[in-house]
Amino acid sequence: MKVLGIETSCDETGAAVVKDGEILLSNIVSSSVDLHAVYGGVVPEIASRSHLEVILPVIEEALTVAETDWDGIDAIAVTQGPGLSGSLLIGVLTARTLAIAKNKPLFPVNHVEAHVYANFITSTASHLSTNYQLPTTEPKFPILALIVSGGHSQLVLFSGHSDYRLLGQTRDDAVGEAFDKVAKILGLPYPGGPSVAKAAETGDTGAFKLPVSRLENPYDFSFSGLKTAVLRVSQAAAGKTYAFPSTGLAELLDSQQKADIAASFQKTAVDTLISPLKRAAKEFNPATIAVAGGVATNSELRRQLAKAFPDPVMIPDIKLCTDNAAMVAVLGYFRSHTTHPHDPYSLEVLPNFQM
Ligand code: KG4
Ligand code: ZN
Repeated sequence: MKVLGIETSCDETGAAVVKDGEILLSNIVSSSVDLHAVYGGVVPEIASRSHLEVILPVIEEALTVAETDWDGIDAIAVTQGPGLSGSLLIGVLTARTLAIAKNKPLFPVNHVEAHVYANFITSTASHLSTNYQLPTTEPKFPILALIVSGGHSQLVLFSGHSDYRLLGQTRDDAVGEAFDKVAKILGLPYPGGPSVAKAAETGDTGAFKLPVSRLENPYDFSFSGLKTAVLRVSQAAAGKTYAFPSTGLAELLDSQQKADIAASFQKTAVDTLISPLKRAAKEFNPATIAVAGGVATNSELRRQLAKAFPDPVMIPDIKLCTDNAAMVAVLGYFRSHTTHPHDPYSLEVLPNFQM
C-alpha cells in the first residue's frame, strides 16, 4: 500500500510517498526558512504564502521521484495539526481537494505523533539517490518516545498504534524554542538550534552552572527558567544589564564567551531531557526507546543518549527528524488499519491538536 503524505504545519512544505508504512519511495521538503531568517523567526503569513506557491510542485515531485502516478497511490495522509493555522490550511485543503478529485481515502494525522513514526522507516527504494541512515528493524511496543521539536517537548508511552499515554510535557517553552531564544540572546543566526549547537562545539560545558528544572510531575519539562538563567549569565559576562529580549547584549560578548554559554546551555537542556527519560525507562521498561523531532538532530543529545542507555535508542536519520511528510505518510498508513477515512468535504485544521 502506497501512501502520499502531505506536511505543512510550520515553514516546511513536504510531500512523500511511503510503501507499507516502512519503505521510503520519495521525501521532498521545500523550506521557507531563508525567507524567515531576516525576521529571526517564522512569519506565519510568509509561511502560508510559500506553502501555497510550492505545494503542488512538491507533490508532483514526490510522485515523480517515487516513480508512481496517481493510480499507484492508495491513500493520502495529511497533517491536521498542531501548527500554524494558515500553514495547516494549505496542506489540508490540498489534501481534501486531491482526495476528492483522485478518489483516494484521506487520513488526517497529528504532527507530533507523526514525528515518532519517522522511526518506522527501515528502507528506501533502490532508485532513491539520497542516503538515509536507517534502522534494520522497526520499533517494538511498548515504545517510550521523547518528542523534541520547536513546538513540542513530550514524553509519551505507546502501547500500540494509536494507543498511547502522555506521561509528561513542557510546562512552558519547547526545548527547540529554548535553543531559538538562546540563539537570539547570543546574537546567533536563525534557526537557533543548529547555530547554538555549532557555537557549543568550541565551548566549555562546565563554564557556567545553569539550573535543571524540577517539577511536581517528574515527566514534565520546563525550559523558561533555563532561558532566563542564560540571559542572567550573559548579562554578567557582558558586565551590563539589558532587559529581555536583550538587544545589544550579544555585541558585548566575545566568541569564546558565546561558545561557553552555548555549551553550558546545551548540556543543561540535554540533562533536562535525559533525566525524565531515564526515570520513565526504569518505571515502564519499554521494548524500544525512540527520540524524534528537530532537536533529535542535536549531537550532544545523541551523545548523552548513547551514554545513558545500554541498548541503542532509536533516532531517525537527520532528514527524518526535522519536519517532513514521510513520517505523516507512515502514520497515515497505520491509521488506515485502525480508523475509517475522513470525509474529505468536512476535514478541518486543528492548530491546537493535542496528542
Ligand atoms: O521538528 P522541527 O523541524 O519543527 C517543529 O515541529 O517544531 O523542529 C525545529 C526545531 C527548531 O526549534 C530548531 O532550532 C531545532 O528544532 N533544531 C535543533 C537542531 N536542529 C534543529 N535544536 C538543537 N540542535 C540542533 N542541531
Ligand atoms: Zn515538527
